[in-house]
Amino acid sequence: MKSLSHIRTEYKKGSLDQQDLDKNPLNLLSVWLEQAVSAKVPEPTSMCLSTINSSGGVSSRIVLAKKVNLEGITFFTNYESSKAQQINANPLASIVFYWAELERQIRIEGKVEKISEKLSDEYYYSRPLQSKLGAWASAQSTVISSRDVLEKSFKQAEEKWGDSPPRPPFWGGLILIPSEFEFWQGRPSRLHDRFSYTNSYSKTDTKKWLVQRLAP
Ligand SMILES: Cc1cc2nc3c(=O)[nH]c(=O)nc-3n(C[C@H](O)[C@H](O)[C@H](O)COP(=O)(O)O)c2cc1C
Repeated sequence: MKSLSHIRTEYKKGSLDQQDLDKNPLNLLSVWLEQAVSAKVPEPTSMCLSTINSSGGVSSRIVLAKKVNLEGITFFTNYESSKAQQINANPLASIVFYWAELERQIRIEGKVEKISEKLSDEYYYSRPLQSKLGAWASAQSTVISSRDVLEKSFKQAEEKWGDSPPRPPFWGGLILIPSEFEFWQGRPSRLHDRFSYTNSYSKTDTKKWLVQRLAP
């Protein structure tokens, strides 16, 4: 394999200045997501989710953001998976979005909670049949002896539920409620733009965000 050390990119697709920022970082996240979708970035909603495991180590994987609003970032998963068990034991987690084509990164930290059954139902029932059955078929993160086990399990779900599988009780949404953000826009000469948002609470308990520029 050729040396990786010579691979270099000069970032020059954009800039990020104080006037581009929103008071609420969740609004800016929504704008950047929309721009990633418009730019036809592959998997624009994919994000790296890191959680803390039982040995105090960090565990990361990609999941898809399915909703962003002023409450947080929602994704869907198996509630018995490794990630969900880790979140149950320690709700602190972080998310990273990276859109190479836009030379942008967003880092988010916060705590994760389960969403309501109603909201999980709404999303589950909007999914294609194959995905609904897939949720039943996979005991996510458990060891299986072969692919065959998975395919048999899918067939059994198909036979049992036909065209209208209910939402499995072990599958649904989780929301990361953020307390910190960092928006990063690549710039030439490694002089990138970075802004952090840190959350503080005023006397009236209104969520306020402290915005600061960071050195790259
Ligand atoms: C592009 C992409 C999208 C994914 N989306 C999800 C998702 O939305 N939910 C999910 O549970 N796993 C998703 N996965 C699989 C996870 O990365 C991971 O393998 C799985 O959730 C098991 O993780 P765990 O054992 O840490 O719980 C996705 C993987 C990729 C590469």
